[in-house]
Amino acid sequence: MKVSIIGQGYVGLTIASFAAEFYSVIGFDSNEDIVSQLNRGISHIEGVKSSQIKRLIDQNRYRATSKGSDIADSDILVIAVPTPLTENREPDLRFIEAACKTVGENIKNKVLVINESTSFPGTVRNFIKPTIEKFSASVIKHEYAISPERVDPGRTDFNQKNTPRLYAGLTKEASELTRDFYSKFCDNLVEVSSPEVAEAAKLFENTFRQVNIALVNEFAQIAHALGISVYETLDAANTKPYGFMKFTPSAGVGGHCIPVDPTYLAAIAEEHGAPATFIRIANEVNLEMSRYIVKRVVADHGGSIKGKSVLVVGVAYKPDVADVRETAAELVIKHLRDTGAVVSWHDDVVQEWGGEKSSPLQGADIAVVVTKHSNVDSKKMLACAPYVFDTTGKVPGAKGL
Ligand SMILES: NC(=O)c1ccc[n+]([C@@H]2O[C@H](COP(=O)([O-])OP(=O)(O)OC[C@H]3O[C@@H](n4cnc5c(N)ncnc54)[C@H](O)[C@@H]3O)[C@@H](O)[C@H]2O)c1
Repeated sequence: MKVSIIGQGYVGLTIASFAAEFYSVIGFDSNEDIVSQLNRGISHIEGVKSSQIKRLIDQNRYRATSKGSDIADSDILVIAVPTPLTENREPDLRFIEAACKTVGENIKNKVLVINESTSFPGTVRNFIKPTIEKFSASVIKHEYAISPERVDPGRTDFNQKNTPRLYAGLTKEASELTRDFYSKFCDNLVEVSSPEVAEAAKLFENTFRQVNIALVNEFAQIAHALGISVYETLDAANTKPYGFMKFTPSAGVGGHCIPVDPTYLAAIAEEHGAPATFIRIANEVNLEMSRYIVKRVVADHGGSIKGKSVLVVGVAYKPDVADVRETAAELVIKHLRDTGAVVSWHDDVVQEWGGEKSSPLQGADIAVVVTKHSNVDSKKMLACAPYVFDTTGKVPGAKGL
């Protein structure tokens, strides 16, 4: 069986690395640099080892390509392309549309198309299927399914094998084929009654996180105003063995999922006349956290940090990954620069970002820790500036918390 995976990023390459142990896999990506790197056996994704890619290539189980004709005789097609927000923070299906065009124009036989990209309910039925059909010269009826991806980059305890996977096809045949495909490398497959339920479940999972993160971020502000420790209060609440789940405060939410997916849910809700109040407010609270942190830093310096050198420590959106998409560090840096401070950043996992290079972890007037990678010593962070504001709760001894 030949499986083609459209998009060789975090999701697509991860799936490719598991699927290629059982199927012949083509990794299609429109970025030729990524394709040539992969074909040289170099992985650009944490969690997928270069040695594994190299072995799969040597065993003729995997090959990357940017040529549409290479996917022509596939049996299964998995779509794993970005689903970001537009500049107006609305769902942006441009990449899915382009992937559908590639599929429609190149596929010659009947295939199963599985979407793993996160999008709103109805995407497979009302967007992917008609778009592929629009670009197909033939009238072959393909099968369509969704199996939303739950991969958590950098995580080692849960992976493709042991994370339960939701799926649903537009037809019974599509559901069965989807189950067969994933059952080779996933232990727990959960069929739901329609693609819309699977699509909505994925969005709701991340909305649940976004709303709870916003709640704890708001509570951090309340705790500070009341003069009590937010962390001690959360630990105290967490002694309750049921009905409570601990989330911790942060400078905001980042990455491809939490700041983005809830907006997909809000957009489709509002299109159908349903409220999305919580989702919209949670988004605002999380986005405003960066401004709150900068206000606290300024207040601790008598109302001005103009001209001070400020080092933002950790700009990846979460520990131990190099991913800076939607990172809260971006707004923290912007608000710090608005105060007239001279801002640089340190992150030896990211190294280079937005045309700037990581600065040494030393010699600043003020440090603001946004993300703490596990290989960075707290003591070194405390030593890099006389005043350190810690947004992570992982730098004991920081003056600002
Ligand atoms: N990263 C995660 O943790 C995660 C987790 C669950 C779900 N998702 C979802 O999975 C989807 C993919 O996310 P990702 O993190 O893998 O993105 P990514 O940016 O890491 O990778 C996407 C890849 O697709 C390629 N691409 C873009 N348009 C293309 C096209 N038309 N044809 C072929 N290749 C194309 C890009 O070059 C890139 O290599 C998104 O919908 C995302 O929301 C991501």
